[in-house]
Amino acid sequence: MRDTYINARLRGVGNLKLTPRLKIIADSVKGFDTLADIGSDHAYIPIYTVRNGWVKSAVATDVNSGPAEISRERIRNYELESRICVRQGNGLQVLNSGEAEVIIIAGMGGILIRDILDKGAKVAESAKVLILQPMRDSEKVRAWLFEHGFEIIDEELVRDQGKIYEVIWSKPGGEARDAKRPLFIGDRLIEKKHPLLAEFISRRINELEKVMVALEDANSDKCRERAEECKAMLVYYREVAEWVR
Ligand SMILES: C[S@@+](CC[C@H](N)C(=O)[O-])C[C@H]1O[C@@H](n2cnc3c(N)ncnc32)[C@H](O)[C@@H]1O
Repeated sequence: MRDTYINARLRGVGNLKLTPRLKIIADSVKGFDTLADIGSDHAYIPIYTVRNGWVKSAVATDVNSGPAEISRERIRNYELESRICVRQGNGLQVLNSGEAEVIIIAGMGGILIRDILDKGAKVAESAKVLILQPMRDSEKVRAWLFEHGFEIIDEELVRDQGKIYEVIWSKPGGEARDAKRPLFIGDRLIEKKHPLLAEFISRRINELEKVMVALEDANSDKCRERAEECKAMLVYYREVAEWVR
């Protein structure tokens, strides 16, 4: 049973083609020596970047034993055991300070990414670059970076299988500050008038409008609070939508 599960997940070995979301991350690590992929799951980024010679070595981590085991197996299949190690454990706690020049935390919610950074702030500060790809609540990630003296050096939007994903590149060494303004959309995306930004915002507006309708008749304090939050976000998104039209 276990072998069947592993074999099913290992299909496609030898033919590693990254999806656009993972590829934009992998392509940006060229020129660094070491990377750590936190919550790697399938170890695609470590394998792809080491195989292409973009980094010398990598650490693939995951809190769960299943993904860690699959990663080990896949790395063995590519004969990359000497250059990619797998560690099972929580967030940045399995890394030593300075061990990875690039730290990637992708494919998780923004709140989880923020909590991982918070619990492992010393390790995060020791990296040259963080590449963060929150699936939602990206403002929580930006706020944490601001408050802990990380600079956001770039942001991207990438279309992948009908969705638009946010990717944030950040580096330590700046001044800690309060954002004092909404961080729902990255400044870099607005500055470069990203070609996907108008569509990204319009999708967010549609989602929020649906949430508002669902919350209309709710009468708990929690729902009222959520409705107020959504209303404020809608005002913000509609304003930015005007600028980027
Ligand atoms: C949806 S997958 C994303 C995989 C990959 N990073 C990607 O972007 O495609 C999330 C992975 O993060 C792992 N994970 C969740 N919380 C974690 C934590 N605190 N520390 C390390 N890994 C975690 C899960 O076990 C899962 O394999």
